[in-house]
This record gives sequence, structure tokens and C-alpha cells, in this order.
Amino acid sequence: MNIVVIGGTGLIGSKLVSKLRENGHQAVPESLDSGVNTLTGEGLGQALAGADVVVDVTNSPTLEGEGVLQFFETSTRNILDVEESAGVTHHVALSVVGTERLAESDYFRGKIAQENLIKESSIPYSIVHATQFFEFIRSIVDAATDGNKVRLAPVQVQPMAAEDVASAVARISVASPVNGIVEVAGPQRFRFDELGRLHLGARRDPREVVADPDARYFGAKLGDDTLVPGDDASLAETRFEDWLSQSLTSS
Ligand SMILES: NC(=O)c1ccc[n+]([C@@H]2O[C@H](COP(=O)([O-])OP(=O)(O)OC[C@H]3O[C@@H](n4cnc5c(N)ncnc54)[C@H](OP(=O)(O)O)[C@@H]3O)[C@@H](O)[C@H]2O)c1
Repeated sequence: MNIVVIGGTGLIGSKLVSKLRENGHQAVPESLDSGVNTLTGEGLGQALAGADVVVDVTNSPTLEGEGVLQFFETSTRNILDVEESAGVTHHVALSVVGTERLAESDYFRGKIAQENLIKESSIPYSIVHATQFFEFIRSIVDAATDGNKVRLAPVQVQPMAAEDVASAVARISVASPVNGIVEVAGPQRFRFDELGRLHLGARRDPREVVADPDARYFGAKLGDDTLVPGDDASLAETRFEDWLSQSLTSS
């Protein structure tokens, strides 16, 4: 199976390419680095020629403002157009659990637009909804910092390791298209503020986490279960404490 991974140099993309190759698949990473620009369409025709499966694990360079919507709309349109002429039989995209409940956020309006374009296209597809990556908790905490305080909403989260996200995307990419959404999540639920405290405590970071029900996530107000998956989600194995101790010893 010939698989092109757009965004193949990113956090998930690079792990995904390795996993697909380990499993004997032909996986080619493409990104700005290799001369493929999804925003302008440059290099896409050549990159997707002969591909059976295209996995889109790109991310917008800006995470707020109108630019996010523009990135996901334009990029997704360009990719799907080229896929149609290249005869691609499976489009896989990585998105986020709860995207449809986060329309108040610029970032998630971009992801909703991306998903809608995929659903409306003629290409068979699978949309993978993953929860927050363990690796992303640092950025979440930093973005929520105001002086010495970190304001996080006391809502449920079920984060997962990037390694497990890549494994799930690899598995779904080589299976038949589901023409729908598949949810993947970590094995444990936390409260967001509790997760922030665990992250900071492990690094002896003196910032104080405040449970603030009005704290926003990417500009959106959160309900208790906005960020957690439904009962059918497939659960990954890596536990937060194991990932944390491993990431502390390797950093
Ligand atoms: N963070 C989370 O907790 C989370 C949770 C669930 C789902 N997701 C989703 O996971 C996806 C991947 O995230 P990530 O953290 O792995 O991303 P990342 O590390 O930021 O990587 C982004 C990739 O996109 C490529 N790229 C950016 N602009 C491009 C363009 N115009 N043309 C071609 N390639 C372009 C980059 O290429 P260069 O290296 O060449 O710049 C890079 O390979 C995102 O769509 C996100 O919504 C994230």
C-alpha cells in the first residue's frame, strides 16, 4: 500500500511514517520541507501521484485568528482536489475529540471546516478524533498562565501519548475507510486543573493552578464533557504517570 503522509515531519507525522514502515508499508512523508505546500498547492500533484492512501496530519502555523480557518479550508480543498485526479481511495485526517462542540474557537472552526470538506468530497475517508496529546500539556499550561497563576477549567480530560495517536492513525490508515469519525483517547480521565498540577509538580514548577470554570480553551468555554470521547472510543495503553516519568528521564 502506497501511503503519503502530509505533515510527515510533524510530531504525529514523523511517528506515523516510522510505524507504517515498520509494518511493511510504503510511507512517504511530505511537508513544506520536501517542497509540498498545501496552501498554494505547490508540489501536491507530484507528491500524490500513485498514492492509495493520503493521511493529512498537517497543522496550521497560527492557532488563532482568521488564518486558521483559511489554512484548514484552503489546504483541505487543495489536497482533496488533487486526490480526486490522482485516484486516491482513502483520505485520513487527524482531528480532535469534541471539535463539533468547540465552534466558539477560531482553531476549532478551522477543524470543523476541514471535516466538512472531507465529508462532502467524493473520496472515501476516515476522520480520527484524538484527545489532547500528553506532549501538548506544556503548551496548554503555558497558554493558560497569567503571572504565577495557571487558570484551567475543572472539566474532564482523557489525554493520550503522541506515540499512541500515531499507532491509532497507522491502524486506521491501512484499514477500509469508515466514512465517519473514529475516536481515540487515553486510558485515564483527569480534571484539567489536576492534570496541570501533575505536569507542574513533576517539574517542580512553582506556578499555581487555579480551577476556574470560566477559563477558556482555545477561546472556547468548556462543559464538563466537552473534551472527552463517547463510549465507543478505542483506548490507548500508555498511562500518564508512565509517560511523565519517561519524559522526565529523557529530557
Ligand atoms: N495537539 C493536540 O493535543 C492534538 C490533539 C488531537 C488532534 N490534533 C491534531 O493533530 C494534527 C497534527 O498535529 P501535530 O502536533 O503533529 O502537528 P505539528 O507537529 O505542528 O506538524 C505540522 C506539520 O504540518 C506541516 N505543514 C504546516 N504547514 C504546511 C503547509 N502549508 N504545507 C505542507 N505542510 C505543512 C509541517 O511541515 P514543516 O515541518 O515542513 O513545517 C509539519 O510537518 C493537527 O491537525 C491537530 O489538529 C492535535
